[in-house]
Amino acid sequence: MGTGRARIAASILDADLSNLAYAVRRVGKAGTDRIHLDVMDGHFVPNLTFGPRTIKALRPRTEMPFDAHLMISEPSRFIEEFLDAGCDSVTIHVEIEEPIAPTLLAIRDAGRAAGLCVKPGTPLSALEPYEQLIDIVMIMTVEPGFGGQSFMKDVASDKLLAARHYLRHKAHGGEVHVDGGINRETAEFAGGLGVDILVVGSALFVKGRDMAREIRLIRALADEGYQYTLNGGEPPIPRDKMVRFTSLPKHLARPLMDEIEAGGIPVVMLRGVGQMNPDGVRDYDLLVPATVEGLVEERHAASRDAAQRQADAWREAFIAEHGVIPPVGLP
Ligand code: DX5
Ligand code: ZN
Repeated sequence: MGTGRARIAASILDADLSNLAYAVRRVGKAGTDRIHLDVMDGHFVPNLTFGPRTIKALRPRTEMPFDAHLMISEPSRFIEEFLDAGCDSVTIHVEIEEPIAPTLLAIRDAGRAAGLCVKPGTPLSALEPYEQLIDIVMIMTVEPGFGGQSFMKDVASDKLLAARHYLRHKAHGGEVHVDGGINRETAEFAGGLGVDILVVGSALFVKGRDMAREIRLIRALADEGYQYTLNGGEPPIPRDKMVRFTSLPKHLARPLMDEIEAGGIPVVMLRGVGQMNPDGVRDYDLLVPATVEGLVEERHAASRDAAQRQADAWREAFIAEHGVIPPVGLP
């Protein structure tokens, strides 16, 4: 798993299709973060691949998250099967002619991430009606249907950074995916436009190249693009890094945790190195993702300060009533 910002989703479209179990294990061993599964129906795109039964059969072969990319005209007909197959996210196309919202809702109801994908010729404004319903915006930088095509740089320039706008309802966890033509030549440019997930297909299956190195290279180049194009030269904050927001006695930590999580930001509550309380139980640490540290501060500093005052009052009252109960082994 990458320690920086960018994540790689390996598309197995160009793998040896006679041995997909081997393909998913191989890309997993090579260090990909996720598997991107391209489903085509010969109707929405002029090509056929595989469906939910194949995905379900692959599910026990790897622990890697599965992102399904459904290039099919009627995802609603099969959505339950894709969810049942164990997809972690399902992305459908905004260009389809059937209603889109019910399928997005079904994906979310199943606790998975819901995505919408736009073809190169489709404006981002097509996403507007579904803004509240999506966790992923996937930008096609090739015409969907085949691996191995070349990256459409103009489409990337127009859309990759702008796509973030459609995820602004998500305080944390919204993802922009770029799909098509990503390799060591294009990764830095895409990273410089702030993409979260780079879908990589044919570049991983070039004969004579080391797949693990290719993944490391693409990820590092994307992070470098981000650092020097968008982040004023500062290295990106690692995507999985957590930082301590505050420490509180458990009965006060829990409600603050709930308040933060209600705003869509995950919190980890840990018995850590917080101060020892008069009841002999240490304060709990509340950890939040480093990427949204500023937002948490902005939204919850007042609640945190109030909880700290309550903690002081509670400690005083506890000592007045019971004295200090020293924990075993401490003076
Ligand atoms: C195209 C697919 C892509 C593609 C990626 O229809 O959605 O996922 O296979 O392959 P490369 O990286 O070769 O463009
Ligand atoms: Zn795809």
